[in-house]
Amino acid sequence: MSFSAFENLQISVTDRIATLTVSRLKALNALNEPTLHELHTAIAEVAAAAAAGTVGGLIITGEGEKAFVAGADIAMMSGLASDRGEEFAHLGSDVFGAIENLTIPVIAAVNGFALGGGCELLLCCDFAYAATNAKFGQPEVNLGLICGFGGTQRLPRKVGYGHAMELLMTGTVIGAEEALRIGLVNRVLPLEDLMPAVVKTMTTILSKAPLSVTRSKQLAQRSFDLPIAEGLAEECAIFGEIFASPDAKEGTTAFVEKRPAIFSHQR
Ligand code: HXC
Repeated sequence: MSFSAFENLQISVTDRIATLTVSRLKALNALNEPTLHELHTAIAEVAAAAAAGTVGGLIITGEGEKAFVAGADIAMMSGLASDRGEEFAHLGSDVFGAIENLTIPVIAAVNGFALGGGCELLLCCDFAYAATNAKFGQPEVNLGLICGFGGTQRLPRKVGYGHAMELLMTGTVIGAEEALRIGLVNRVLPLEDLMPAVVKTMTTILSKAPLSVTRSKQLAQRSFDLPIAEGLAEECAIFGEIFASPDAKEGTTAFVEKRPAIFSHQR
């Protein structure tokens, strides 16, 4: 599977791990309309590669040592006709929804500023690791705006209502240790150790039975939308489906035989 050539993104695949790098150094990787359109295409291509089995996981990061993504492009927004705001929000929201809906694991490697749309980008990943220099915030209130790419909905789900509202209402920028404390990221590492750690975790995930990984993701995401009784019923139904899979037979047999499981990697 080959990917399109992009102007503001880089994408590469090694050992079934795709790495997507937002690449607009001159604007700290801020997301303008062309970049969002490119992201949409790239995510569709990652989804196709995942369906074909050539990609098993996605890492999202930013180019350089200063920024993950510094938000939506403010200069572009300031020149946008006032009746185009909803359309722009839909563009980013649809792209971020497509990232969230990927069935494969998605990890954000936050290598610097993750502000506004940049923080919202990590929120649609399954989890994030951060470099010690990373900074996080939803500074839209400083611009007379609100989040438009999912922050008001995903941030409370991620860090709880109180922490989310403090970020959303004050526009405060927090450091990596504070982001770790409130559960916005899972680990904080020196910048040079960030990508190796993310790749190592992704490699661990890809060594597991893929159906177990993707169905766990599907069920956990559904938990936000379903009454718990329905979610629990879905979990039982999918457990039944997984239980009948060759990898479940192999995993349980290998345990009993005291040997490592060799998964078929059936998706
Ligand atoms: C456009 C941006 C940008 C942004 C930085 N740049 N962030 N351009 N949009 N979001 C540009 C700067 O204008 C500058 O360009 C260059 O990147 C380097 O940035 P500096 O400000 O010189 O760097 P520094 O002093 O280190 O400050 C870094 C920073 C600051 C703290 C990250 O740039 C900043 O506050 N950026 C804005 C962050 C933000 O408010 N994001 C939320 C956006 S709203 P020049 O040409 O001068 O060198 C949003 C809403 C999403 O995301 C929903 C929409 C529907």
